[in-house]
Amino acid sequence: MKILGIETSCDETAAAVVQDGRKMLSNVIVSQIDIHAVYGGVVPEVAARSHIEVINPVINQALSDANCTWDDIDAIAVTYAPGLIGSLLIGMLAARTLAVLHNKPIYPIHHVEAHVYANFLTSSPNTTYKLPPTQPSFPMLALIVSGGHSQLVLFQDHGNYELIGQTCDDAVGEAFDKVAKIIGLPYPGGPSIGKAALDGDPLAYKLPKAKLAGKYDFSFSGLKTATLRAVQREVGVDFTFPSTQLAERLDDRKRNDFAASFQRIAIETLVDQTEKAFNDFHPKSVVIAGGVAANAELRRILSDRIPLHIDYAPMNLCTDNAAMIASLGFYFSQKNEPADPFELEVEPSISMTKTAWGSPL
Ligand code: KG4
Ligand code: ZN
Repeated sequence: MKILGIETSCDETAAAVVQDGRKMLSNVIVSQIDIHAVYGGVVPEVAARSHIEVINPVINQALSDANCTWDDIDAIAVTYAPGLIGSLLIGMLAARTLAVLHNKPIYPIHHVEAHVYANFLTSSPNTTYKLPPTQPSFPMLALIVSGGHSQLVLFQDHGNYELIGQTCDDAVGEAFDKVAKIIGLPYPGGPSIGKAALDGDPLAYKLPKAKLAGKYDFSFSGLKTATLRAVQREVGVDFTFPSTQLAERLDDRKRNDFAASFQRIAIETLVDQTEKAFNDFHPKSVVIAGGVAANAELRRILSDRIPLHIDYAPMNLCTDNAAMIASLGFYFSQKNEPADPFELEVEPSISMTKTAWGSPL
């Protein structure tokens, strides 16, 4: 079964064709990073307008890269939640129109749930992707870490999962992005902190690790504020000094040291909770998903601490893409009826709290 996936929840316009949930026949991503970098973050109206410009060419490219015509496509899977409303609407309207026009079943896919399915892609004619040879087995513990989410989810099977921990405040990717801004590293902050940290001393600054009531929960807002205070102290100003003027007073060595010190605590926080959950639930596999899962140091520390071989998805499938949407679309279609293409709506702020499958969408 060949599924066309469409993803436009934030600032990537993406389409892909995946066969049977595991074989990635094409994966097209047009990123708007350059457009938003000048503003230091995603501007929703600009994002929506950029999606409109490229959505049709991106879909056509995904079909032609996969050597497919519409006759070869069995279904469409499209992100319906969560994300920026204007961005979600473009992908959704394109998908609904194409479903009607070509008479294809359409399946609504939850973006955060789909991040996990980057780990289910195991083959591709495009050899530049280093895909793992096998799919993860259940029960599977997933650490989902993106710009909007930080959560631990225990999957018993496809569509049968339980949220066991989540962030009480900021998402970890958000903390990476905010700290990068404070110390003067370019947007998006995650990759630039990862890069700067390679040349920094992770023990240069002592930053606190949050203690939390929920056993598997996370918190990153205290770490972000502690980093801000430490930078203010380092440059010799008090807490009223504007964060936007700190970066110019840091030299490269201090900037790298802050990146490494922040990254160390952020990663330890994630790994501590994952290790606790691993010891309590004894999953057969552990996967990481979402943009922050592209962080090489997170992968290194997690593999050090979890006594199980972890097959990581390639870094470029951790950030937003449509192959993960098409992969989940396959498993979703095995257990759910297609949606009505005339009725399907977007849900900008539905989070992944309990098993979404089987409940009315
Ligand atoms: O999953 P994603 O592409 O979009 C959302 O659904 O949010 O995640 C984007 C987030 C951003 O906060 C970005 O800074 C972070 O993932 N990120 C990273 C890395 N690459 C992207 N964080 C740490 N290390 C990285 N290498
Ligand atoms: Zn995402």
